[in-house]
Amino acid sequence: MVIAIDGPAASGKGTLARRLALHYGLPHLDTGLLYRAVALALLDADRDLADETAAEDAARCLRAESLGDLRLRERAMGEAASVVSALPAVRAALLDWQRRFAGAEGGAVLDGRDIGTVVCPDAAVKLFITAAPEERAHRRHRELGGRGEAASYEAVLADIQRRDARDKDRAAAPLRIADDAVVIDTTDLDAEAAFRAAIAVVEARR
Ligand code: C5P
Repeated sequence: MVIAIDGPAASGKGTLARRLALHYGLPHLDTGLLYRAVALALLDADRDLADETAAEDAARCLRAESLGDLRLRERAMGEAASVVSALPAVRAALLDWQRRFAGAEGGAVLDGRDIGTVVCPDAAVKLFITAAPEERAHRRHRELGGRGEAASYEAVLADIQRRDARDKDRAAAPLRIADDAVVIDTTDLDAEAAFRAAIAVVEARR
């Protein structure tokens, strides 16, 4: 059973994906980490984020071990990832990796922006997790504060709005709701309520 989870930044999809994976005993891939790792490889090599050839090379050379780098979680890396993720060559280079992961025996949970639309169009379960931008900004602001990364609420909200626009408006695999996805709006749901809503969808579909 493949569970595809998409949604904008800080919608709660990562937390939900981890919980579903644990509940069903499935491996989980946070595909945002792949784009973050490509961005980090470029920055480490002093390359421009818009250098499509260098970005494609970085995507092809990506190793699973590099996904554990704590720098990938930093605020600036989300922004950099959204720049490299608009490059079609980068998306193409990361597609096989994601599909191999999804092809694991027994299934997998993948979360990102284009899992239900492009990476796993035949997934048994597709969820689209969203929430109001202001609520997502509050969550991300709290999360960054908890990690000691200081940023004002206004700056975090501006980050989120910029990333939403970039992810939705790009030509290559834009963020959109798959026709057969179930939308869960977590604006007024805590993690437990979102998990219960998702479980109800999975149980109805499998
Ligand atoms: O999910 P996360 O915020 O870590 O993703 C970072 C960026 O990577 C997103 O803003 C988006 O531009 C890009 N991304 C993507 N496709 C995915 C996952 C992430 O374009 N499947």
